[in-house]
Amino acid sequence: MVEKKTVIVTGGNGFIGTNMVRLLINSKAYRVVNLDALTYAANALSLADLEGSQDYVFVKGNITDSELVSSLFDQYQPAGIFHLAAESHVDRSIVSPEDFMQTNVVGTYRLLEAARAYYVTLAEEKKQEFRFLHVSTDEVFGSLGADGYFTEETPYAPNSPYAASKAASDHFVRAYHHTYGLPTIITNCSNNYGPYQFPEKMIPLMILNALSGKPLPVYGDGSNVRDWIYVEDHCKAVKLAFEKGTVGGEYAIGANNEQKNVNLVNKICSILDDIAPPIEVPQLRERGLKSYTELIQFVTDRPGHDRRYAIDSARITRELGWQAEVGFEAGLRQTVDWYLSNPKWVDQASGGSYSEWIEKNYAWRADAQRESK
Ligand code: NAD
Ligand code: DAU
Repeated sequence: MVEKKTVIVTGGNGFIGTNMVRLLINSKAYRVVNLDALTYAANALSLADLEGSQDYVFVKGNITDSELVSSLFDQYQPAGIFHLAAESHVDRSIVSPEDFMQTNVVGTYRLLEAARAYYVTLAEEKKQEFRFLHVSTDEVFGSLGADGYFTEETPYAPNSPYAASKAASDHFVRAYHHTYGLPTIITNCSNNYGPYQFPEKMIPLMILNALSGKPLPVYGDGSNVRDWIYVEDHCKAVKLAFEKGTVGGEYAIGANNEQKNVNLVNKICSILDDIAPPIEVPQLRERGLKSYTELIQFVTDRPGHDRRYAIDSARITRELGWQAEVGFEAGLRQTVDWYLSNPKWVDQASGGSYSEWIEKNYAWRADAQRESK
């Protein structure tokens, strides 16, 4: 039997982190040390069933805490790190960029420093296996026109404070490979969807607003395009890049699935009309809605809203044999089902600081704010 590798995952209680930790542990090849600060975006319920497992350790802490991070490298002697912890929501980065600077830029830098100090102490064989896998985004490349795709060769042109902070962290990761020989790999993925996504993001927001009869706020004219990938497909690509990717390399990851925002919202409504028609939802019955599409409202656009994202993932397919497995129609239906089947998780995620933040901070969306009251 092959010995399990111990790895650190940062941000394991977030959306992609939860799916990543589960994939690693279910593969039976890894023990995971999950370092997460449990910010508003985390949900303690997401990995509650792993507590007590021999293959899982949870550490509550901040990636900017150098002492803590170094102590984890010393204590657990990991074969690598999957770095996912980040402030991840573009709208929030527009309202308050400071946290993005701290976590995404300073936090990544502190992890790199701790990894570098640990790496030089390793025996040659351990050095050969060590990887610093940095999970990043296609938003670092800016916005596309009607044609073309992002690839690993696309020049960086981040537009939002979120994208700028991720671009800065990518550059630090690249520099630590180039200057210090740290074995890094960067993945730049498109929009993820699936279970455990915090309900400020578009897909869960639309599902949950619809079910409670709130407006479905589509920014601008709704014709912005995003390229959607099922979260498990993304996590499989990241795992493969960690295990087989070229050291110092980058991989663009996407499922070749472009959707106009308004079309996607219509698809979500149509799935909901099918499995939870408004007439059968007690709190909606009296409203006389025939379809959830009646809740769609076009609202003030996000400032600097990128027009179109689309990924050409030929490199990871060619070099590592990765391909997305989940079709969009099936994945979207599975996602809607998951939110309907997990009311406890949804309650925990939707209350508290999140609803307060929405009330206070959606300055440019005054129209949506008024209507949700
Ligand atoms: P998320 O917001 O759902 O989760 C982030 C997690 O990081 C949370 O558990 C949070 O508590 C933790 N965290 C935040 N700041 C921290 C800190 N200072 N120290 C320790 N933990 C901290 O994010 P996500 O959508 O799961 O994204 C994960 C990663 O993937 C991010 O790096 C993001 O940039 C990248 N990414 C996301 C997408 C997407 O569509 N969601 C696409 C491509 C890349
Ligand atoms: O492309 C990868 C990125 O995808 C990740 O790096 C980010 O972490 C992740 O949040 C996501 O960014 P987006 O800004 O694309 O995701 P969001 O879910 O916020 O919005 C998706 C699209 O939907 C975008 O064009 C804005 C629009 N939108 C969003 C919300 C929340 C709306 O029209 N209405 C909304 O209420």
